Amino acid sequence: MEKLMIAGGRPLRGTVQISGAKNSAIALIPAAILSETAVTLDNLPALSDVAIYTELLEELGSTVEWSGDRMSIDVSGLRSKPMPNGNVKKLRASYYLMGALLGRFGEATIGMPGGCNFEPRPIDQHIKGFEALGAQVTNENGALHIKAKELRGAKIYLDVVSVGATINIMLAASRAKGVTIIENAAKEPEIIDVATLLNSMGARIKGAGTETIRIEGMDALHGCRHSIIPDRIQAGTYMIAAAATRGDVVVDNVIPKHLEAVTAKLQEMGVHIYEMDESIRVVGQPEYESVDVKALVYPGFATDLQSPMSSLLTQAKGVSILSDFVYSNRFKHVPELTRMGANIRLESRSAIIEGSKLSAAKVKATDLRAGASLVIAGLTVEEGVTEVTGVEYIDRGYDNLVTNLSNLGAEVWREND
Ligand code: EPU
Repeated sequence: MEKLMIAGGRPLRGTVQISGAKNSAIALIPAAILSETAVTLDNLPALSDVAIYTELLEELGSTVEWSGDRMSIDVSGLRSKPMPNGNVKKLRASYYLMGALLGRFGEATIGMPGGCNFEPRPIDQHIKGFEALGAQVTNENGALHIKAKELRGAKIYLDVVSVGATINIMLAASRAKGVTIIENAAKEPEIIDVATLLNSMGARIKGAGTETIRIEGMDALHGCRHSIIPDRIQAGTYMIAAAATRGDVVVDNVIPKHLEAVTAKLQEMGVHIYEMDESIRVVGQPEYESVDVKALVYPGFATDLQSPMSSLLTQAKGVSILSDFVYSNRFKHVPELTRMGANIRLESRSAIIEGSKLSAAKVKATDLRAGASLVIAGLTVEEGVTEVTGVEYIDRGYDNLVTNLSNLGAEVWREND
């Protein structure tokens, strides 16, 4: 196991390139299962979750070839096979194998997903969707067995706005007979990305990015080439880090519209932001105003940026209230930030953060975004070295983190723990 060492106190300066979106990639890779011929994906991030998904597809009989950040998935040898354990337990998004295998083969047996468990993350809405499409779902020793004689389009109202359930239903429904309508669908850009890929594969999906998605099922889908959208969470994390270190950073290869909520909040604090076509320049200031932040579903402030934002809010004057309306208990970073001198009180689904100077400490990342928040906190510390363990979580979502931060002038390195 490795740990991240951060000698903070240096403003980040320069340009950082943002790679493809993790949460798109891990839905687009299994989507290839629905195709009869090879699918090529460009702009893939070099992340452990992507590597695990590659292995999952190989276990199912497909052949994956890499060329730089491009992956070609040859699905000619693909078959459905029970996957109750092993790699499926290593990541949350293995649940997309359920929708994809169900759509392609009418059957899937997949172990309940693993991944970042910052709080219980039910998948009842995914199951509700599969059942509405005509599948029978049983839980056999911790693995879901999903089987349908025939998948038929249906009208599905999601009780909770869920990214995973929306995508999983889209996957299965794109090979069902007839039309499926998802009401109260999630609107995240990653959903539009999946719909774009499926449509390039020959599916007929309309309304992705709105709360009503219409999917006309097709008998067969075919291969295509698709470029993954930039990772808005990675981009938002660097924007927040630039502000927290009072730096001056151009975050490049982004879609600024996907970052509107974080841009608006940073501006409200007093950070100077300049938007270009495909990049955003963040210029930090000596002093920041406290603000209230509510993490909501898209286009609201992303829950995945809530923990990074906590670290920035320790740098503001006065008291900020940061509430998470997506995951009410996603605050495992707070005790660690407190060890670094942060003044944060938890109340119901909110963190009440009073501005304070942070100091170096040994802290532990308990999940991906909690890890990002500790890195940002460490970058603000003026004396001493902050040690962050649990780097394997951070590696799930931030490729080339040490190189990127070093290129921006930070003193960051990895050591064996
Ligand atoms: N929910 C249910 N039932 C369900 C599904 C979700 O009650 O069947 C609840 C969840 O407990 C949560 C809310 O609905 O309170 C939203 O969950 P959602 O299903 O949207 O989350 P997810 O699809 O499992 C994805 C990302 C997360 C991100 C959330 C919210 C992937 C693999 N993960 O999770 O990303 O936080 O959407 O935007 O796409 C991360 O990148 O660090 C990460 C955790």
